Amino acid sequence: MTGKKYRHISITPNFYQLGTPSFPAYLSLGDDGMIIEGGTGATFAIIINQLKELGIEPERIKYLFLTHTHADHIGAIPRLRRIWPHLKVVASPVGEKLLTRLVTKEEALKEFITTDRDIAEIILSKGDIDAVPPELDGYTFGVDMVVKEGDRLDLGSGVSWTVYDTPGHSPCHISLHNEREGTLVIGDATGLYAPEKDIFWPNYFSSLEAYCDSIRKLASLPARRGTLCHNCVIEGRVKRHFQKALSTTESYHREMMARLDRGEDPDEIALERARWVVTFTALIPFEGIRALTTLLLRRSQSAVVSEDLFAIP
Ligand SMILES: [Fe+2]
Repeated sequence: MTGKKYRHISITPNFYQLGTPSFPAYLSLGDDGMIIEGGTGATFAIIINQLKELGIEPERIKYLFLTHTHADHIGAIPRLRRIWPHLKVVASPVGEKLLTRLVTKEEALKEFITTDRDIAEIILSKGDIDAVPPELDGYTFGVDMVVKEGDRLDLGSGVSWTVYDTPGHSPCHISLHNEREGTLVIGDATGLYAPEKDIFWPNYFSSLEAYCDSIRKLASLPARRGTLCHNCVIEGRVKRHFQKALSTTESYHREMMARLDRGEDPDEIALERARWVVTFTALIPFEGIRALTTLLLRRSQSAVVSEDLFAIP
């Protein structure tokens, strides 16, 4: 049972937004279907209801495409695998390695289960679900198909997606481009965007240089819309989204470095940044955000910034 009733949103005649606004997934339909994003334990039931409402036969859904393997993007996989054994989970080579860790390292699985429950508590507090879903007696995360840049996922009837490597937010991040429709699946590659305030929290968690390179790569692709893994779909002005993502990344990075140069305490900087982040988003608990702002400081310190890193030609 779900709390608020979120209906699917039709973005194009064969592309839909599912899940909740904060934790969306997408459905692309050709002859075959592909769910984009691995959901969360709490949005699993919402997604299933939306697919029923759309009248989609589960057998038609062939792929589950993972932009990356952060805990808030994989939580529905074990639940989907139980009911749809035919589903092929698609990820990057690094994504496959990271998901294998979840099965082989008990600590990693425990951490995932805790984070997935924390996210469910947040979704519950928004009134989007009625209860935190019970834990499973076993979790299966295997990847069935590994893809790399240039690979195509052809769903039939002219619906085809090209894969692009877009690391930086995570080492395993990949994006999708449907050239015919001008749709880009950006994922978390431009960080966390709060559309109501037009604010970005740059999320270069694995590398500042790779994060900026990925944004510049995506900006070079022709697109009418860009789908994000949190909060919204960018309709029109996609290039402006990328420009702003890069310029805010530059100012975030430069501010961190200037404060460190002035001798400010790194822990204090990270704490202040986390307090700023929660003024416009609360998708994970505060301590998690604080750990991430600390990580961003480290990434800024180790970055080698070239002159054109933040520029979109
Ligand atoms: Fe992420």
